[in-house]
Amino acid sequence: MTRTRLEEHSATELESLRDQLNARLDQLRGAGLSLDLTRGKPAPDQLDLSNGLDGILAGDFVASDGTDTRNYGGRSGTALRGIPEARALGGEILDLEPDQLIAGGNSSLNLMYLVIETALREGLWGPDSRWSDEAARSGTPVRMLAPVPGYDRHFTICQHAGIEMVNVPMTDSGPDIQAIELLVTEDPMIKGIWCVPKYSNPTGCIYSEPTVEAIAGLPNRAGNNFLVIWDNAYAVHDFESPRAPLANILASAQVQGTEAHIAMFASTSKITFAGAGLSFLGASEALLLVIEEQLRAMTVGHDKVNQLRHARFLHGRLEAHMQAHANLIRGKFDAVLDHLDQELSGLGIARWTRPRGGYFVSVDTRPGLARRIVALAAEVGVALTPAGATFPYGRDPEDRNIRIAPTFPDTLEIEAAMEVFTLCVRLAATEQIIDERRSAP
Ligand SMILES: Cc1ncc(COP(=O)(O)O)c(C=O)c1O
Repeated sequence: MTRTRLEEHSATELESLRDQLNARLDQLRGAGLSLDLTRGKPAPDQLDLSNGLDGILAGDFVASDGTDTRNYGGRSGTALRGIPEARALGGEILDLEPDQLIAGGNSSLNLMYLVIETALREGLWGPDSRWSDEAARSGTPVRMLAPVPGYDRHFTICQHAGIEMVNVPMTDSGPDIQAIELLVTEDPMIKGIWCVPKYSNPTGCIYSEPTVEAIAGLPNRAGNNFLVIWDNAYAVHDFESPRAPLANILASAQVQGTEAHIAMFASTSKITFAGAGLSFLGASEALLLVIEEQLRAMTVGHDKVNQLRHARFLHGRLEAHMQAHANLIRGKFDAVLDHLDQELSGLGIARWTRPRGGYFVSVDTRPGLARRIVALAAEVGVALTPAGATFPYGRDPEDRNIRIAPTFPDTLEIEAAMEVFTLCVRLAATEQIIDERRSAP
């Protein structure tokens, strides 16, 4: 469809368009809508796919190494590293061997928090490697690179730990490597980077092989004690089969001698039950030992019964299970994209991502409009993720990114919410262009 860019319309045309859009918005205001595009969580029908977890053990609680999962402890290593079949499941998700990972409790964020805290206070590579000591010596805070737009809970961990964040732009093949290499060579207090390498939250991109290799090599270029947080939350969340490939960062790090500086994470939060799944930490043996030592002080062990349930439930059918998820959510993403294409393409006022998996669509509006659009939509009863949420400190310097989460609402709700959203984007852009013309000399 060829359309005239909004900026090319005459002042009279724009004013008439603004009035039409306002009239439609007024109609919708009266419709008493209550719609929500903020929730990046599975819908109830997706959760239902895993109801078979309930009762799957049928009284057989013994893991493959003979551990009685109901009790404390376990056979060698099993208590803190997880039962062998749960580690095998983590290996299938993260493309690792079972002995390259720890299977934990229900939240990978919990493990990320633990790794960051350990890097700060204990040191991940011996007592001389504590980030907090270096910060005290240099009088400079610890910093981490945050590819933006990104995941707000990563930013929350940094803020909570007193770690400053430095924005790095995302491209279609992952974060901007040239910008990163420049930053880490100039600033030795940049101690790490947050990465969501597959179906990144929120842009949906997959890091290219050169990007993965470059990130694996960063610990050789940066100052001391650099850590790559590789949060592969959407590793198996493809809309199509076979699964889209992602280069194995740990293998690349082994070649470059940086494997002790890579911490990989995944969970079954968006595979089975978001609130009651398993998490995984994949890393070199040296790093696993350090984290295991922390866990020893924190817990006798994670929930091994849940580990066994998951391993039995997903054994040999992970791909089919993920395709069943895809069948439930593909149409919802299509509904979002159809609306964006039909209502906004060609107008020159927004661009958006077309993810082939994951949980989000990321929309960039004209600069300076994200807050206005979110506020307009709220007036009509459509909740959007707060503008700025995809940036550290909630500050989107250009005020243009909006994250759409289509999985939770049903398709009819998405259709209604997207009509409002695209209307608000057009109205805000039209108003802005009218104002720009008025204030132009
Ligand atoms: C990139 C990313 N990492 C981690 C999580 C949460 O993971 P978990 O439930 O395992 O703590 C999410 C959830 O939205 C996410 O998008």
